[in-house]
Amino acid sequence: MSTVDRSPALVYLGLGSNMGCREANIKRARALLAALPDTTLTAQSSMYNTAPVCGPDQDDYLNQVAELQTTLSPRDLLTAAQGIENELGRRRTVRWGPRTIDIDILWYHGFSSTDAELQVPHPRMEERRFVLEPLAELAPDLVLPSGRSVAEALCSVQDQVMTRVSSETGAIALRTSKRFSMDYAAIHAEIRRLAAEKQAVILAHNYQRPEVQDVADVTGDSLGLTREAAASSARMIVFCGVHFMAETAAILIPDRLVIAPEVQAGCPMADMIDERGLRALKAEHPDAVVVSYINSTAAVKALSDICCTSANAAEVLRSVPADKEIIFTPDRNLGAWAAKKAGRDVILWPGFCPTHDLVEVADVERARAVHPAAKVVVHPECRLEVAEMADAVESTSGMIRYCREDDASEYVIGTEIGMLYRLSKDVPRKRFYPLSEMAVCPYMKLTTLEKVLRALRTEESVVTVDPETREKALGAVQRMIEMGGR
Ligand code: 13P
Ligand code: SF4
Repeated sequence: MSTVDRSPALVYLGLGSNMGCREANIKRARALLAALPDTTLTAQSSMYNTAPVCGPDQDDYLNQVAELQTTLSPRDLLTAAQGIENELGRRRTVRWGPRTIDIDILWYHGFSSTDAELQVPHPRMEERRFVLEPLAELAPDLVLPSGRSVAEALCSVQDQVMTRVSSETGAIALRTSKRFSMDYAAIHAEIRRLAAEKQAVILAHNYQRPEVQDVADVTGDSLGLTREAAASSARMIVFCGVHFMAETAAILIPDRLVIAPEVQAGCPMADMIDERGLRALKAEHPDAVVVSYINSTAAVKALSDICCTSANAAEVLRSVPADKEIIFTPDRNLGAWAAKKAGRDVILWPGFCPTHDLVEVADVERARAVHPAAKVVVHPECRLEVAEMADAVESTSGMIRYCREDDASEYVIGTEIGMLYRLSKDVPRKRFYPLSEMAVCPYMKLTTLEKVLRALRTEESVVTVDPETREKALGAVQRMIEMGGR
């Protein structure tokens, strides 16, 4: 069993038992799940009595939904759940037959699969009241593959009969634990109340945690959010993303309060170039036009002629007069891809995004073998050889447009894993698979709902840029915004 070095994923499991001491079986299964490596049981629903929906005549089930936070991969979690079923004496003799314990992975944040063994989100969860009713206690706003919330889906299965037999108060204690405060609905409501009171707008990048995306006024890619900040008349901008994003907003609207809920959320790619390095490169190419990816510090922007994002990089390169040399910083992958698309030669700074650079050609080959009907859509921060194999290369918001307008029904997505939540919410009728489950940006995940609430309450941390740097950086950002595009 392997755990990976990434933020724990939120998982909902369905537990059911109709043999032996049903309640004891469920409690034992829960204890064994909680004891798995790097796994915390964060909440559990009440227990419900339900008649079996299929199969031979048998006793009623006792059902419950458990909420976990785990760094186990979906497949390792499945193997562990099957081990627990075996340990509790489950025999797989009859399909739909009686069993001591049944454990189903209902939902694993940021992951979907239709493999016969590992069907996640669970394909029948929206038709079963014994799943929806307990799940609604824990996550009424969770968006299901159909695009409905759990609470909405529950309305359509009210004719199925079941009874609540116990309310386990343990859920409450766990949900307010220090590590994972999961009472999202209450925090969400308080954030929205405070945002209205303080005339704040909440912007969230597409890689943010689902609950942070859900509470935001606007979710989008770097270009969309930069435009949103520039056009906003709000007194306060709460920027849920990484530092350079809030800094770009502070460059554009210095008269407004720009707040970063997590000031430690930096971008390693942006930190791969500094003022000194860029000055030295400029000295070697004194007439070159400097194009800097928006994922850069204000100091680097101040030394640049124009900025770009992943949505408009090729267009920006095309706008540079043909007789001019171009320096592109800091992303060598985006620079190489945009240069090829624009038909221009560029001098590349050797920076890269650690999250996207780990995606390999072999990942694309594997994904095509496993999902032959799916199109592969990747972010241009992936290596050029990966981008060249893809059906489409898009910014994060470009991915949403592409998958919505395209006629395929399945896509393998090569970017930060948070994007799968955004896609499954915005394009609910299609299926999405991650190109690499390892593509997690730990910095994007530092912002939690609790930190957004604290930021609104305390109006901290304020992000500012010194006036001289700001003045110089503003030109590069504005020139990009004036170019238009989407
Ligand atoms: P976009 O959302 O602009 O595509 O950017 C991706 C990214 O890595 C931001 O840090
Ligand atoms: Fe930076 Fe990569 Fe994270 Fe984007 S995904 S913020 S480029 S480290």
